[in-house]
Amino acid sequence: MITGIKGFNDILPGEVESWQHIEATARRVFELYGFAEIRIPILEKTELFCRSIGDATDIVEKEMYSFVDKGENSVTMRPEGTASVMRAFIEHKLHALDPVAKLYYLGPMFRYERPQKGRYRQFHQIGAEVTGVTDPKIDAQVLTMLCHFFAELGLTEPALQINSLGCPDCRPAYRESLKAFLRERLDRLCDDCRRRYEANPLRALDCKSAHCKEATADAPAMLDHLCTGCDDHFSAMRRHLERVGTTYSINNRMVRGLDYYTRTTFELVTGLLGAQSAVAAGGRYDGLISDLGGPAISGIGFAIGLERVALLLKEKEFTRRPDLFIAALGDEAQDEAFRLMCGLQKLGSAIEMDYEGKSLKSQMRRSDKLKSRFTLILGGDELVKGGAMLKNMDAGTQAEVPLDIKAIATHLNP
Ligand code: HAM
Repeated sequence: MITGIKGFNDILPGEVESWQHIEATARRVFELYGFAEIRIPILEKTELFCRSIGDATDIVEKEMYSFVDKGENSVTMRPEGTASVMRAFIEHKLHALDPVAKLYYLGPMFRYERPQKGRYRQFHQIGAEVTGVTDPKIDAQVLTMLCHFFAELGLTEPALQINSLGCPDCRPAYRESLKAFLRERLDRLCDDCRRRYEANPLRALDCKSAHCKEATADAPAMLDHLCTGCDDHFSAMRRHLERVGTTYSINNRMVRGLDYYTRTTFELVTGLLGAQSAVAAGGRYDGLISDLGGPAISGIGFAIGLERVALLLKEKEFTRRPDLFIAALGDEAQDEAFRLMCGLQKLGSAIEMDYEGKSLKSQMRRSDKLKSRFTLILGGDELVKGGAMLKNMDAGTQAEVPLDIKAIATHLNP
């Protein structure tokens, strides 16, 4: 039997519906903000990614699917979309039409990483990029759109973290002060951080190793070394975010794994996916378009990891809890449970029962498995009394309620 390649997944019926929903939601939300779709090729000249992402990054150093094609050209299967979108923007002179372009894309990306839950070698991104606006209102708008997308999916958990990486005016001095700090602690850093010390010292700030975390706990932060222009930009963006109610926290140790960033960077992080905590990420790249041979036009954007969003939606389904589980012993109690369940469902509560009338123990096991918020146990005595004990499973409290749909509904959702 020939199997698929490690890290390259099939998306089967049953899963694909969730993907289609995520994609349709992105298209619908992004179009509200004036974004148009761009489709870019999977294969690009290797040089494009070396120049944009940076030679000293993990992606370029060890993760690219690069090969020499039959015409002796070094080509690479895109590890991300920003470089290709900007290449297309320059090549087709879209800036001559309008320097302000709002573009989105979706499709597979390829990185030779060690596969694990949420991390694959072929994965999918939904990305969005805006060119030609330096005003921090656009930073706030892009972040607000990203949060809007997650809210539309009913995902409120991934939290927005922001940082600023400064610009070519202020970052070099910061880099030097960070290097001076690290130099004294080199022997406490992991092999990777020691190796990257010269070319990419900032990576020590987001290293996962416990030793590096400890050694860099008091490291200088970029945010304290911003030039006036970068500092003003960051403060204005924060004000705009607050004005429109987009909540965030500052993570001054956030270092992105791509070199093109300037000023604003951000990630949407979750605690639900283990080590793969970033569900979406991005930032501003004011020098990229000119570095790639285009005019001096700024840019900002993000990419969402589709697999990670699909995993979060699954997680959410798993954690969707019934409001009430009704356990019933005997035929009459089962009938009464069924009446209560249907009435409460019509009033908007999520109710479960065991239709087959199994033993009380097995019904309670099922209630536990579903993590229902309340349970109600019905037997002959309760029917005679016309009331039963409603148990709050989280608080461990209970209250006697009449077998009345409205009365129970009030208890479930006071
Ligand atoms: P990135 O942080 O490399 O940024 O990737 C963005 C997102 O893609 C990550 O937060 C994650 O959700 C997902 N992702 C990355 N690698 C993998 C993988 N191996 N398996 C599954 N998901 C993955 C970029 O790619 C930039 N182009 C984002 C950007 C756009 N910045 C400005 N504009």
